[in-house]
Amino acid sequence: MIFVTGGAGFIGSNFVLDWLAQSDEGIVNVDKLTYAGNLDNLASLRGDQRHRFVRGDICDGGALLALLEQHRPRAIVHFAAESHVDRSIHGPAEFIATNVNGTFALLEAARAYWNGLTGEEESGFRFVHISTDEVYGTLGDNDAPFTETTAYAPNSPYSASKAASDHLVRAYFHTYGLPTVTTNCSNNYGPWQFPEKLIPLVMANALAGKPLPIYGDGGQIRDWLYVSDHCAAVRRALEAGRPGQVYNVGGWNEMKNIDVVRALCDILDQVAPKAGGSYAKQITFVPDRPGHDRRYAVDASKIERELGWKPIETFETGIRKTVQWYLDHQDWVADVQSGAYLSWVEQNYANREGN
Ligand code: NAD
Ligand code: TYD
Repeated sequence: MIFVTGGAGFIGSNFVLDWLAQSDEGIVNVDKLTYAGNLDNLASLRGDQRHRFVRGDICDGGALLALLEQHRPRAIVHFAAESHVDRSIHGPAEFIATNVNGTFALLEAARAYWNGLTGEEESGFRFVHISTDEVYGTLGDNDAPFTETTAYAPNSPYSASKAASDHLVRAYFHTYGLPTVTTNCSNNYGPWQFPEKLIPLVMANALAGKPLPIYGDGGQIRDWLYVSDHCAAVRRALEAGRPGQVYNVGGWNEMKNIDVVRALCDILDQVAPKAGGSYAKQITFVPDRPGHDRRYAVDASKIERELGWKPIETFETGIRKTVQWYLDHQDWVADVQSGAYLSWVEQNYANREGN
């Protein structure tokens, strides 16, 4: 089986669902269930013996090692993180705790567990670390996209904490030989994304008749990738990634924020038209994010060349699926926004371990 952290979050839950749709290999899914983790994402797996959920904190090294010894996974896929740049500006401490100290605790547990393996179990073991293109900092309009050798230059507490975690992972490979593989991916979108990130926030606000906030002039550029394409890249990195290597993952799909939001409004106008004209009328320019990175762009040619991965969705196909998913799951959005889900978690998990 494989050991997944953060598998109740946006990308992690998509990964768990995609994995079990394609394989009977089981998953132990360790997630703290912060505001961003939601077991409803995994409701279709209730009663499925291949999925074992454990509520746990990656900062708790002792608990991690006990779980590893108990379940004896062949790999760890590490998604758990604090992931929202704006939250990292308002409160960086949680980002250091989870992304830096938590990754360190997980690496230590992985090292102790892996040291106890022998033969093929030892040589076949993998620690796949999921990171972000934001560690490379910001690009000018004419700069080449980020490659795996671009110097790290993180600009937000979020990206700095992810950069620190990437460095620790690198050091554990070089110093201890732990067979790590790191992926640095661009902005994801798709089902189950918490409505604080641009695309689900704009969807939720559009349908609620609220302003669609555009930071600054809306000219910032991100490289958007549909989440199932990212999950496929992570599966390839686990299957065939070379230990110690880094793979950049991206959609070759650079877009200005304002164009992303306009595209969303256009699709909504077609599939959920409203009285009073276009959703685009709700677009509102608001003060910029401090330290806002202007442009991210990923050169994904290494993973394409070495691992044969390519994105399947274009932005046009992926965004249509995403809009439809949010239209079909407005209850989910309302639940995670209301806090009802969080109080349920506290009530349900206060004195419980495991599932
Ligand atoms: P998310 O915020 O939706 O989910 C994070 C998950 O981690 C949640 O389920 C949360 O409960 C869990 N978690 C947080 N702290 C934890 C802790 N201390 N112990 C155990 N679990 C904890 O994030 P996401 O968007 O799914 O991102 C997943 C990973 O992918 C992150 O490492 C992020 O840096 C990386 N990434 C995200 C994007 C993106 O566009 N969302 C792009 C590139 C890389
Ligand atoms: P976000 O989804 O937070 O991802 P990241 O900051 O990790 O790239 O934001 C994507 C882009 O959209 C980013 O340039 C900030 C911008 N943005 C807005 O303009 N308005 C918003 O309300 C949000 C949440 C983001």
